[in-house]
Amino acid sequence: MTTKSLVSISDYKVDDYNRILQLASEFEANSYQNLLHGRVIATLFFEPSTRTRLSFESAINRLRGRVIGFADIGTTSSTKGESLHDSIRMVASYCDLIVMRHPLEGAAKYASEISPVPIINAGDGANQHPTQTLLDMYSILKTQGTLHNLKITLIGDLKYGRTVHSLIMAMMNYNPTFYFVSPPELKLPNEYKQTLAKHNIAYSEHADMQEVLDISDIVYMTRVQKERFSDPMEYEKTKNLYVLKNDMLTHTKENMKILHPLPRVNEISMCVDASPKAYYFEQAKNGVYARQAIICHLLGINI
Ligand code: CP
Repeated sequence: MTTKSLVSISDYKVDDYNRILQLASEFEANSYQNLLHGRVIATLFFEPSTRTRLSFESAINRLRGRVIGFADIGTTSSTKGESLHDSIRMVASYCDLIVMRHPLEGAAKYASEISPVPIINAGDGANQHPTQTLLDMYSILKTQGTLHNLKITLIGDLKYGRTVHSLIMAMMNYNPTFYFVSPPELKLPNEYKQTLAKHNIAYSEHADMQEVLDISDIVYMTRVQKERFSDPMEYEKTKNLYVLKNDMLTHTKENMKILHPLPRVNEISMCVDASPKAYYFEQAKNGVYARQAIICHLLGINI
């Protein structure tokens, strides 16, 4: 199948990013429209989600589309042994577009190769989360006024954090400087560092977040991805290493913004929520507009 899908953030080029960010801004101004009337979109969540699934469903409902799907694999025939192949072939015959989250890296790519309708990757294991990246980019653009030449600090689980991987691949198009803060066990995989080096993108690695907070435009906090660890002791060792607190923000840039894809566990103290630098709840809200833009872009719907 050669149907256009969104599997990896690298499927899109800067022109696509610009188009989606522009559309997201138009949807933010007018989120309730009749653009998906008569369309059926399936949301298949083989792994838990709050924001991604519900913001997709809100995005579709606001555009008068219909949603089918599941949030719990336990209610599906996967429990009887049905393969991903057969599930996708079946569901594709019931809908115009599939939004899919799956624990296996590469599952969305596989689905896109066998599906006659477009697939949107809503997260595949530790690999990619491209729609999160587009809402992150929209949030960065809204708060910084530009995507270019920013100092972006990513903190926490850089090994398993799929939102980190996608964001790096997209933002490297805008001449950023990246600061990667993690424990040794959760460092950014080498393949991403090699790509950055190949494109002459500046980056440095740190163990202490205080070294880079004050020079950052964006601080992107992440949760340690408990579900990806094979050894629970490794998770216990790393889970509370980075906790952002209000007193750490004193000398940060005035327009610095704190992002987090959420869910938060302990990485950001709740006292930070009231800071004008905390942007993570607005960021999650931006997901509705970014996802409306992505759906319309993929289905070729003009607004
Ligand atoms: N950011 C994100 O993917 O959140 P959910 O896991 O709740 O969808």
